[in-house]
Amino acid sequence: MFQEKIKAIDESRQGEAIYAENTGIKNGKKVFLESYGCAMNFSDSEIVVSILMADGYSTTKNVEEANIILINTCSIRDNAEQRVKTRLKYFNNLKRAKKDITIGVLGCMAERLKSKWLEEEKLVDIVVGPDAYRSLPFLLDKADEGEKSVNVLLSREETYADISPIKLNSNGVTAFVSIMRGCDNMCSFCVVPYTRGRERSRDPETIVHEAKYLFQQGYREVTLLGQNVDSYRWNITKKGDVVDAAKEVVSFAQLIEKVALIHPDLRVRFSTSHPKDMTDDVLYMIAKYENVCNCIHLPVQSGSSEILEKMNRGYTKEWYLQRIKAIQQIVPNCSISSDFIIGFCGETDEQHKQTMDLMQEVVFDHAYMYKYSERPQTLAERKYSDDIPEETKQKRLEEVILIQRATSHQKIKRGLGKVHKVLIENTSKKDSEFFSGRNSENMVLVFPKGDAKIGTYVNILATHCTSATLIGNQIF
Ligand code: SAH
Ligand code: SF4
Ligand code: F3S
Repeated sequence: MFQEKIKAIDESRQGEAIYAENTGIKNGKKVFLESYGCAMNFSDSEIVVSILMADGYSTTKNVEEANIILINTCSIRDNAEQRVKTRLKYFNNLKRAKKDITIGVLGCMAERLKSKWLEEEKLVDIVVGPDAYRSLPFLLDKADEGEKSVNVLLSREETYADISPIKLNSNGVTAFVSIMRGCDNMCSFCVVPYTRGRERSRDPETIVHEAKYLFQQGYREVTLLGQNVDSYRWNITKKGDVVDAAKEVVSFAQLIEKVALIHPDLRVRFSTSHPKDMTDDVLYMIAKYENVCNCIHLPVQSGSSEILEKMNRGYTKEWYLQRIKAIQQIVPNCSISSDFIIGFCGETDEQHKQTMDLMQEVVFDHAYMYKYSERPQTLAERKYSDDIPEETKQKRLEEVILIQRATSHQKIKRGLGKVHKVLIENTSKKDSEFFSGRNSENMVLVFPKGDAKIGTYVNILATHCTSATLIGNQIF
């Protein structure tokens, strides 16, 4: 039981499928799209739907009635890839029963395996990488004529800035907005630079435009997305040279401000911050605007400076702790969450203990914890041996999960007896008489519906809690 739970946590960001449904008309062809992986991938799926609908396709939630099945994939850990392969086998069984189905693999696995999909796997008809979605209608037309094809060209410019994403399975209240693509860091364990290509920032005007549009549509929270949001920069090179003197230079902190100024009722969150790049300017923006949420996701990966060096993360444990101090000083009560990789190459018991010590010292509100999974092509695969036995990885993972469970609970309990400003997102999954929403610090609160409405703010006095949720009542 415990093992199962741990597995579920380990894979918590994988395989949450989303489905699209709407009614386009072109050739009567229906697309079923399933997405895996991080928020950026889910956000890309909204771009894919937009591109396909502009070409006249309609979408369906029912895979049985689809003419085109697309799967937007993730390569971050081996189990994510295995899951996709199992799904593709299932889709191929459907195809055998009903011949006129085109199967396409999109996203990070498409990019990683490229034409191998057609050579070895033979499970798919088209393969389209994250920067090549504009070519989807063309590739689907070719597939119609019986031609299998691959477009995995990565771009230095593509940001899909002009495409209005079509929201999928949306609650109509919270939305993701991509602000950049790719990653120029070379963390030794990570496949993302190979699957997503070079880092590039999106035109801030189009970001603000999209966020404004979302607000007009009733959305009340946007999360600005990038693999390393702190390296967002517009009209200025990494070296600091201005590209076009006639245009505005925009840093990440300035971008936050632009979005925050759209309306005080539009909450702003962002993810993911990088410890080596996160500046105090960003923290001052959080402190300055009430609608910029008191919440930072700052993945540390390990509490050992030696392991961090092998991971090529660009900071030490001391540097990380100093960043945590800066957050606590500039934004008191800011919630801090993190990611951990357990059992990285050569990790000793002592180094693992340093990770646990760091967890105890910082007291994270929330954390994602993963066993190290060696990825082909990465620096770590070429340079180090994945030598920590599976049982040791599992044991260490269980240890960190226990610590995090206790600290998360401790943090939740601190919310008791206080009044929280909550943005209502949806009906609680556990009880249809209750609404569920979050406060600025990203804590989940549930409370009796009363006359409240989804997409509005309410003040909730928290009176009880479970391990991860505060329960309370609306106060007026
Ligand atoms: N850009 C973000 C993270 C993107 S991937 C950052 O730099 O923090 C999300 C998380 O997956 C990472 O933070 C890391 O904890 C985990 N991860 C990445 N590669 C992994 C691997 N090879 N094995 C296990 N976990 C991995
Ligand atoms: Fe991967 Fe590191 Fe880039 Fe994050 S910052 S996406 S972990 S290479
Ligand atoms: Fe996965 Fe690609 Fe995101 S590898 S985590 S979907 S960037």
